[in-house]
Amino acid sequence: MILGYLNGGGDAPGLNAVIRGVVYRAVQGGHSVVGFLKGWKGAMENTAIDLDLDGVRDIHREGGTILLSSRANPLKTENGVEKIEKTMRDLNVDFLIAAGGEDTLGVAKRLSEEGLKVIGAPKTIDNDLNATDYTFGFDTAINYVTDALDKLHTTARSHERVFVVEIMGRHAGWITLHGGIAGGAHVILLPEEEFDTDEVCQILTRRFEEGRKYAIVAVSEGAMDSRLRKHIMHSAETDSFGHVQLGTGIGIAEVLSNEISDRTELSTRHVVLGHVQRGGKPSAFDRVLGTRVGVKVVEMAEQGLAGKMAGLKGGEIVPVDLSEAVGKLKTVPQDRYDVAKLFFG
Ligand code: F6P
Repeated sequence: MILGYLNGGGDAPGLNAVIRGVVYRAVQGGHSVVGFLKGWKGAMENTAIDLDLDGVRDIHREGGTILLSSRANPLKTENGVEKIEKTMRDLNVDFLIAAGGEDTLGVAKRLSEEGLKVIGAPKTIDNDLNATDYTFGFDTAINYVTDALDKLHTTARSHERVFVVEIMGRHAGWITLHGGIAGGAHVILLPEEEFDTDEVCQILTRRFEEGRKYAIVAVSEGAMDSRLRKHIMHSAETDSFGHVQLGTGIGIAEVLSNEISDRTELSTRHVVLGHVQRGGKPSAFDRVLGTRVGVKVVEMAEQGLAGKMAGLKGGEIVPVDLSEAVGKLKTVPQDRYDVAKLFFG
């Protein structure tokens, strides 16, 4: 068999482990692998490069992706689907493996409906993909956030200050929830539930009055007080999948921090953790998860399982329908958020 591989969307620590897993398993199964550079763009423009063992040895220890990534969307490109079809035909690719989140796998699903043999690998630091318990990249991201909050505790305490920390997650607050709980944030704000800035101020003021004179507020970049829409107005650009590009203008942390300063006597600063959450070496968990996903998608190709994704379910990697994975984001359920709220203040 000839397998094609690409990864699309934001990079995630663990992607190189997937590529290595695919190549090692494929070669040992007697197959060959070509990789497309820059996600769907590479599949449309046929940027294939041969991937062999020497090219992927030890890469699982590194972050990013050796194949580069992009947010190119074939469904928004003229003849995009036909171009991918042609590339697969020209290269005799039997199965195309696409690693990505909701957007990339949404395209994968559409291509399989058009008859192309595509298999998905779930990837996003946001952990907001359905039909899988966790996505690789998430663990590395929450470890970074936890470490950042740990550091902010000490400087916040020394200066009796409030720090408002902006954390990735436009539509789902998983990184903020897990990073916030692990890092001991005193208020956690998620995109799943609109917040009230006055209530946040009350929690913080009470905390200071009770003698705990510093605080950390962990806020997802997509969280919102509907009366504070300013941060959206400053980031009007959208990507090829129609997402507002948060983080390109003034973000919610800065807006909220200014509001807290205006409405209380508290000294307040904001910190935007930004893309460092996605960078650097993958955690051991993400290296292993990426490896297992990479190996599994090749096994799935051998079994002819097109239109499926390698999902993590209760510790096992199993084939799930791509249609189960996309269409609706996996957001933080209320009961999980309620656990975090027990520790507010
Ligand atoms: O989807 C992963 C993610 O890191 C989101 O958490 C974030 O909102 C977005 O990508 C940032 O995208 P970009 O790299 O295009 O700025």
